[in-house]
Amino acid sequence: HGTSKINDKGHLEIGGCDVTDLAQQFGTPLYIVDEELVRQRAREYVEAFKASGFKFQVAYASKAFSVMAMCAIAEQEGLSLDVVSDGELHTALQAGFPVQRIHFHGNNKTPDEINMALDANIGCFVVDNFHELALLNALAGEKGKKVNILFRITPGVEAHTHDYISTGQQDSKFGFDLGNGSAKAAIGQALELPNLEILGLHSHIGSQIFEVEGFRMAVDKVADFAVSIREEFGLTFKVINLGGGFGIRYVEGDTPLPLGEYVAAITNAIKVKFNQADFPLPEIWVEPGRSMVGDAGTTLYTIGTSKDIPGVRKYVAVDGGMTDNPRPALYQSRYEAILANRANEAIEETVSIAGKCCESGDMLIWDLELPKSESGDLLAVFCTGAYNYAMASNYNRIRRPAVVFVKDGQADLVVKRESLHDIVVNDVIPARLQKSAL
Ligand code: LLP
Repeated sequence: HGTSKINDKGHLEIGGCDVTDLAQQFGTPLYIVDEELVRQRAREYVEAFKASGFKFQVAYASKAFSVMAMCAIAEQEGLSLDVVSDGELHTALQAGFPVQRIHFHGNNKTPDEINMALDANIGCFVVDNFHELALLNALAGEKGKKVNILFRITPGVEAHTHDYISTGQQDSKFGFDLGNGSAKAAIGQALELPNLEILGLHSHIGSQIFEVEGFRMAVDKVADFAVSIREEFGLTFKVINLGGGFGIRYVEGDTPLPLGEYVAAITNAIKVKFNQADFPLPEIWVEPGRSMVGDAGTTLYTIGTSKDIPGVRKYVAVDGGMTDNPRPALYQSRYEAILANRANEAIEETVSIAGKCCESGDMLIWDLELPKSESGDLLAVFCTGAYNYAMASNYNRIRRPAVVFVKDGQADLVVKRESLHDIVVNDVIPARLQKSAL
């Protein structure tokens, strides 16, 4: 998919770049991002919203993959940006991302983070709870500013996805509950706070969702709530943000919809519900992360050792693992992969791909069919663009890999590989522990 293909040497090629050349030039493990595919996904969202006739913002959820080069692409494609920490905000600001299009999320924004975002004049805060409501109003007041807010509400919709990544159900750490009146109380309070400008509501029901039913249910709840708020307070929401969560295909059996269909489902549902209630059509915002970058990413590894347990299993180890992709260990996520330097060769064996970390849970793929692999071969694992680099760690003091963007035969480094110096750069040996003191 995307610009990936097998070239006449039998090598995987992405964005016109032979991955064996990329391995030579940049080393492995290596995250490779198909820039054209990212742009294509962005355009699918934007086109679908344009076709709907709604005013809209497509805010890329940068938590999926936050690096400055990605912020630059998001800006060029006319996207907005959802950030959830000072680190993501700093990344966006350093990339020169237009501040008015930055939205700040999070269930526990610190005063420092809020002040940083206020100083930067970002476009919108998504307020999660009562504490934040009061704090934001106070800090904005100290700076003589009035800030735009959305209320994050918990719609009470359970999306069918992994427990750890579903968020819309009532028992969740996020947002104001619709069911028990706290969302209404929050809006009542905010109307009394002079430094907050209420734009509307936010709902996010979970991640890696395939059916549109959950989104329709969320729209129903949000619309009913908007109507009740208009009745009670005479306040009309201008913006409805339906979060992200649109699923992608990792392995056979995953059945995502084309992005345009998610958008159509949401915009149609809003049109119907708001028209019924005789409510002015709001601006619609969404926050896709995974579906923007997930399938554009490929991780390239070098195969090292293997261990064959006859009659049981053959383990094949690569030079990365849970440090660059913790998702299999965290969520039992599944991935597809090929032997990238011998991609045309016949399948000969079933192996399990192990990482190099010192723990048994560090497995990337169970039961993968491959040609007979040897030490030095390259393994390409697909769909690693979202929540891989973003969730990478230095466990075992393993260095985080480099990231390259490929397009039209050109490969550009967007994140350098960490060095051994980087590994110790924040370490300090207190004077009393230094050799000279002993
Ligand atoms: N908006 C909000 C408020 C969110 O919490 C999230 C994701 C998104 C948007 C983007 O959702 P997406 O379109 O990417 O599904 N680490 C997990 C995923 C956690 C998602 C957290 N929130 C994983 O690797 O599957």
